[in-house]
Amino acid sequence: MEALATASVRPPGPPNAGFLLGVLPRFRKDPAGYLLSVAQTYGDLAYMRLGPQHAYVVSHPDWIRDILVTQQSNFTKSRMLERAKVLLGDGLLTSEGDFHTRQRRLVQPAFHRDRLTRYAADMVACAERASASWTPGLERDVHLEMTRLTLAIVGRTLFSADVSSEADEIGRAMTQIFSLFDTLLMPFSDWIQKLPIPPVRRFEKARDKLDQIVYGLIAQRRASGEDTGDLLSMLLLAQDEDDRAGMTDKQVRDEALTLLIAGHETTANALTWTWYLLSQNPEAEARLHAEIDGVLGGSSPAFDDVQRLPYTSGVFAEALRLYPPAWAIGRRAREDYSIGNYTIPAKSILLMSPWVVQRDPRWWPEPERFNPDRWHPDEAAKRPKFAYFPFGGGARVCIGERFAWSEGVLVLATIAQRWKMRLVPGHPVETRAVITLRPKHGMKMTLASR
Ligand code: HEM
Repeated sequence: MEALATASVRPPGPPNAGFLLGVLPRFRKDPAGYLLSVAQTYGDLAYMRLGPQHAYVVSHPDWIRDILVTQQSNFTKSRMLERAKVLLGDGLLTSEGDFHTRQRRLVQPAFHRDRLTRYAADMVACAERASASWTPGLERDVHLEMTRLTLAIVGRTLFSADVSSEADEIGRAMTQIFSLFDTLLMPFSDWIQKLPIPPVRRFEKARDKLDQIVYGLIAQRRASGEDTGDLLSMLLLAQDEDDRAGMTDKQVRDEALTLLIAGHETTANALTWTWYLLSQNPEAEARLHAEIDGVLGGSSPAFDDVQRLPYTSGVFAEALRLYPPAWAIGRRAREDYSIGNYTIPAKSILLMSPWVVQRDPRWWPEPERFNPDRWHPDEAAKRPKFAYFPFGGGARVCIGERFAWSEGVLVLATIAQRWKMRLVPGHPVETRAVITLRPKHGMKMTLASR
């Protein structure tokens, strides 16, 4: 009887703003900040209603580990990501079940260590090229610069393609897409995307533009018949080898677009926030410069240098802690699921936020302080594993995690050898949590040579 009584009780949580909307209006204003205030007020498990959906904010590392790893078969991805199918189709990010497992097996070899070693040279070359035209005193939107750079990197490494000529077009299309995408990801949005209203039209036009670029890359490769050993070749070869269960152009497009988007937007944001944090923390910046100069002695970095640059890695890790590009990870319970004394009913949404947990003073003393020394192995060993999960965990862990680490460290080392960046006075710095955590107003910085 006792168990039944507790089972029907919900954990504490914020009151609804309106009967239909639940807490949606407040959540939408500043989603990451709102989740933080909910966790700070109501604890490790809080209930709130997002429109018609019952959502639980889970903020204890052990419970997060259970959901993402040990009990992962109890969950699917949340509907928020299912809605991303309007853009990404059935790529790795949005697919489920056996289809996902098969696609993941197919794509995984593109991220093996020997491949990453080769990609490293491209990452450094792209960073050198991106900064070649910079002059001291120049003002730049560093977010735009980093977006162009990471797009060039993912294009070159995974598709052996020079997408820099299309980079601006892709960037514009992405901005258009993101401006409506947050609406499309919200509850009640299913019908919005069927309306012939201008924002939906703009979204469709931008998506068509991206399709044109990606189908163009596929067609070029088919025409050349070349096996360049990159991801695109692998996807196309898998299709050729098995003409019954092979991939259609549409499936290749879905995986390619997924990697193009998942592989550049996240890293661009991470690097932008890193430059910002360095500009605000001159002591850390000086230590970064000292390490890079000492290890590289003026030469270009290579893959093996990544592990010789522990402070640089700590800088990147700390930026991912304070500004995790994937600021929330969602799952949906297949069946009723127990957390502590509570039963989470089937179909509920569970939200786990790196933005929230990575600011929890239980695991991160002085959480708002940018302190790369936290990443000394002795310090890191004291924390529960899922006190830090910018790349998620379990079967759906980011496939590009190691790619992103080497990209982050190599781009930082390449650019910081010659440049430092200063925030333009008065430039507002705010976050905008859509799918990723972007700087709301871009990041206007002045370039200074070292
Ligand atoms: C700092 C950079 C990055 C961050 C913070 C990041 C974060 C994440 C997170 C949190 C997930 C899991 C989402 C979930 O469980 O619901 C994920 C999945 C994924 N990421 Fe990343 N990512 C980054 C870079 C990359 C790169 C460079 C690539 C590819 C080149 C990539 C490709 C993917 C793909 C394809 C998935 C879906 C994996 C699957 O479900 O099988 N990501 N990423």
